[in-house]
Amino acid sequence: MQEISFPISSRCNLRCPSCSAEELLGKNKAQSLSLKFCEKIFSRIADQYGTNPTILLYGYSEPLFHPNILGVLDLLQKYSLKGEISSNLNIPYNIAGFLSHPALKKFHVSLSGITQEIYTRGHEGGKIQQVFKNLEKIENHPDASKVNIKFHRYNDNKSDFIQFSEYAKRSSFQISPIVAIHMVGWNYLKNFIHSKQCTLPARSKKVLPRLIYSDIWKSSTSKIHADIPCPLQESTLFMDHHGDIYTCCVTGYAPELLIGNILKDNAEDIRAKRARLSICKACKNTGFHADRVLKEALYNDPDPECPGTIQQNWEKFLAEDSWDKSNPIYLYGAGWASKLLYHLLTEKGIRVLGFIDDDVSKQGKTLHGLKIFSPTEFDIQKVPDAEIVLFMIISKEKENYLKERFYQQYGKRPITFHEYLQI
Ligand SMILES: C[S@@+](CC[C@H](N)C(=O)[O-])C[C@H]1O[C@@H](n2cnc3c(N)ncnc32)[C@H](O)[C@@H]1O
Ligand code: SF4
Ligand code: SF4
Repeated sequence: MQEISFPISSRCNLRCPSCSAEELLGKNKAQSLSLKFCEKIFSRIADQYGTNPTILLYGYSEPLFHPNILGVLDLLQKYSLKGEISSNLNIPYNIAGFLSHPALKKFHVSLSGITQEIYTRGHEGGKIQQVFKNLEKIENHPDASKVNIKFHRYNDNKSDFIQFSEYAKRSSFQISPIVAIHMVGWNYLKNFIHSKQCTLPARSKKVLPRLIYSDIWKSSTSKIHADIPCPLQESTLFMDHHGDIYTCCVTGYAPELLIGNILKDNAEDIRAKRARLSICKACKNTGFHADRVLKEALYNDPDPECPGTIQQNWEKFLAEDSWDKSNPIYLYGAGWASKLLYHLLTEKGIRVLGFIDDDVSKQGKTLHGLKIFSPTEFDIQKVPDAEIVLFMIISKEKENYLKERFYQQYGKRPITFHEYLQI
């Protein structure tokens, strides 16, 4: 388990049209968790899942409503855990008071504009001035690099993003543009996942026209997505503020998605239950998980231009003249992305000869009946006409390194997806 989401507050002050917080949390009295309860949860996490998972102290709510964040971080430290916070930063708060805490890995700030007019479209009820007031106080903080501004990209906030990037360059803040999504919540999502029929909430009228990708809601996804493993199934545990565990953050909290409770059920039982979930099968069959999960992973890039859908881009890539499609292909990377590309290539009659992966646990095994080589074992001399696609699932730095290594070793430039997309 890489991440465990545990919201320390169950209240949000904003009504972002893209977010189902209100629907998920209901209008019940807001609650901030007692330190005693947090301690129970953290001690249980350490016992059942070890100290590797990062604890996300947020879900669908605003963690700054918790009155004692320092106390929560102290508790994480007591159990050798580390956590992250994500905030809309609309509450006056002395962030400097906890930013240096050793148990805090990152402090994310969610932003969708810097002019009040644009900002309020994504963060309804929010005041951008308040966000900047809080940010200014920590601009020169020695741990300002822990602050990561998640800039939600819509099709109409590009100029705000560019201006904000200029500001961010002068600070030590990190900035990560992410493609804004529509977090509809289970009441709406279930129809889509089960029958591809989706009656969307009224607020969708504000969100859909602004999304860089809205094709998912037109059911344009393809069956090939069903094959891609869902990273969320294995990597993330999604809890509400009672410690109840649900399918995932995409589906949200809903009684019919309840898997168990962290305090009552052990990790092995939870894992086994999750592996059997029929919802995941339905979700994959509609391609929902792929478009929702993969597009984020693939396009969280610094280019604010709209890059199109994953599939459209791959189709474009495959139609490019710059590489010879009569040559067989080796795919670098044997993960979900290569798996999807494999289908697209073979559908088009392009031969895939095998995979290459740095991960020793994959080497020697097969994928689609083809061998997964280690980079040292792989020898292009034996297949001189092969093209190698270095896949974008690896980081850009790593891709650059591998590209150079291959060139030096074989005198052959590999095709890279990053390069093609110029990201
Ligand atoms: C639902 S928020 C809850 C925490 C806090 N209220 C906030 O807004 O950061 C959890 C995460 O979802 C991300 N998020 C919120 N709206 C989003 C959107 N429309 N598209 C993509 N991610 C979004 C936020 O950046 C945050 O990291
Ligand atoms: S995205 Fe965050 S700030 Fe916006 S409504 Fe959801 S929980 Fe609240
Ligand atoms: S397959 Fe769908 S429902 Fe299952 S964990 Fe992935 S995104 Fe969530």
